[in-house]
Order: sequence, then C-alpha cells, then structure tokens
Amino acid sequence: MYSFLILVLSLFPLAANALTVYSYRHYESDQRLFELFTQKTGIPVKIVKAKADTLLERLKAEGMNSNADVLITSDASRLAAADRADLLQPVESLLLRERVPAHLRDPDNKWFGFTQRARVLVYHPDRVRPSELSTYEALAEPKWRGRLLVRSSSNVYNQSLMAAMIVANGPESALAWARGLVANMARPPQGSDRDQMRAVAKGLADVAIVNTYYLGLLQNSSLSADREVAEKLKIFFPNQAGRGTHINISGAGVTKSSRQPEQAVQLLEFLVSAQAQATFPAATYEYSVLKDAPLSKLHANWGAFKADSMPLSLLGENNVAAVKLLNKAGWR
Ligand code: FE2
Repeated sequence: MYSFLILVLSLFPLAANALTVYSYRHYESDQRLFELFTQKTGIPVKIVKAKADTLLERLKAEGMNSNADVLITSDASRLAAADRADLLQPVESLLLRERVPAHLRDPDNKWFGFTQRARVLVYHPDRVRPSELSTYEALAEPKWRGRLLVRSSSNVYNQSLMAAMIVANGPESALAWARGLVANMARPPQGSDRDQMRAVAKGLADVAIVNTYYLGLLQNSSLSADREVAEKLKIFFPNQAGRGTHINISGAGVTKSSRQPEQAVQLLEFLVSAQAQATFPAATYEYSVLKDAPLSKLHANWGAFKADSMPLSLLGENNVAAVKLLNKAGWR
C-alpha cells in the first residue's frame, strides 16, 4: 500500500506545489510581484528572507533536502559563490538567454540578473565641480585627501568594485588604487551606502561611492531628513570616457535541490517579463536588465550613462583576490 502511494504521487505530481524562494531582497514590491506570478500561473510562492550569507549557509547545510527552489540575492559575486558551493543547477531557457544580456548572467546558465544598479559617485556641489570628477581611478589622486567616503571592504559591493578594478587594470594597479583611496578617506569606513551620503550632506566629506538605488531611496524617503540629504547631493557616473560605470545585479538561480525546476524557471522568466521589469525602476529604483528599456523619470533625471559591459561572472572569479588586496591596502 505504502509503495503504491509513492508510485501514485510520483506519477501525478501536484501542479500547484508552492515554490520556495530564498531571498536576500526585502522589498514589499517583490512580494507583490510574486503574488502576480501566482495569479498568472497558479503556483504559490513562499518567501524565506534572510541575510545573503545566512541563506548560503542554510542552503549548504540543507543540501539536497532543502525546500528551496529559487535563490535570489544581490551582487553577482554572491551568486557565483552559491554556484561554487554547488548549490545551483543550470537552467535551459531561451527566453532568459534572449532577455538577459550575456554580461549580466552566468556563462553556464546557473544565475541570471533581473535588475541592474550602478556604483556611482555622489558629491556636494558646493565643494566639488563635476568637471573635477572623471574616473574611479582618479579618486586615488592626492587632491582628494580627507575628502572621500566609502563603506567597509567587508561589503560585497566594494569587493566587486575591486574585482572590476583588477580585471580592468591588473592586480598591482588595483592595489595601488585601493591604497590611494584609503589615504583619501575622510574617516575609517563605517555605516551603509546611505550613511556615506548623509555624511557628505553634513559636510564630513565631499564625495562618496554608493549604489544608485540608495540615492533613489533617499530621494523618495518618508523621512524629510533623508530627502533633504538627497537634495544636497549630485550624482556622477564615473569612467564614461572609458569602459563605463561599474554595474552589478540582483539575480536569481534555481537551486540544485529544487524538485520542481520547471516551475522555478517559470518564476525566473516572470522576473524578466516586461511587466516585472517595468515595476523595478519605480519600486526599488533599480534599472531594468532589458536592452533598450526606457529610463524611468527618476533615472532620466540622473542621466543616461554608459555601463561597463564586463561579464559579471568575472567579479565572482576575482572575489578572493579582491578581498586579499583590499586587506593589503588597509581598507577596513
Ligand atoms: Fe544594497
């Protein structure tokens, strides 16, 4: 009887089994998107939210017994780390390959970007003229001594920026650059990207390195103090005359343990649908990954820019080297 039951269950898998998503993203708009996905497909979505490292550790510990079907996290380097730990399975989807530009996804189809963000400079226009700004590299020049703010190198965004510097300029040059930045910092790294902007607005420094959507979050904050911070600052996209501004993604992959990978792929495909892509710029101030997507009003306000087209898989490949050099440079 028991074996008969198992046979029946395996012959008729339930169509409406819930997908479990492990997500580092904590946006209500994601929740609404998943609800829309359920309306369209009849597939319920269960979200488990935690910090990225916690999710990775949990996936590792659970192994093939994990209930997770999809992993969502920010930064290509984290997705690459999940792949290195053998937690993701390759996905065959022509739609994903067509919609997500090659540099924003894994060459082995283990993860796909579904939003983009740029790591930019914000500056105080009373103390900096935009003509003084040019590249990430130029921030290491002595003229910026005591005028620069950036968060800790324990943060993956800076590790990925450093990885990009290694890819673009080589490890020696990247190390010299990081040393120059450390020498120019107005204070030892502390706080978040938003804290760096708050400090520049307060006059603690003149330029900060931050992700674009954090500026969007300040500009649209429910707190007037944060909106005032954003009003005082200007945005600058570095390296426009060269390789372009460093970008990164939020991305998703199907877990190796998933027992319903086809439905999981459906969810990934939904995330790059025109409908989902239109919501991200408005809801989270991230950029669409779709080629030729129109800029939102806010993004048009910041200005169109040339994004670095370096394959983001290189950020993961160079993460260990980046961390080592950041430590060597004394970037806390
Ligand atoms: Fe972030």
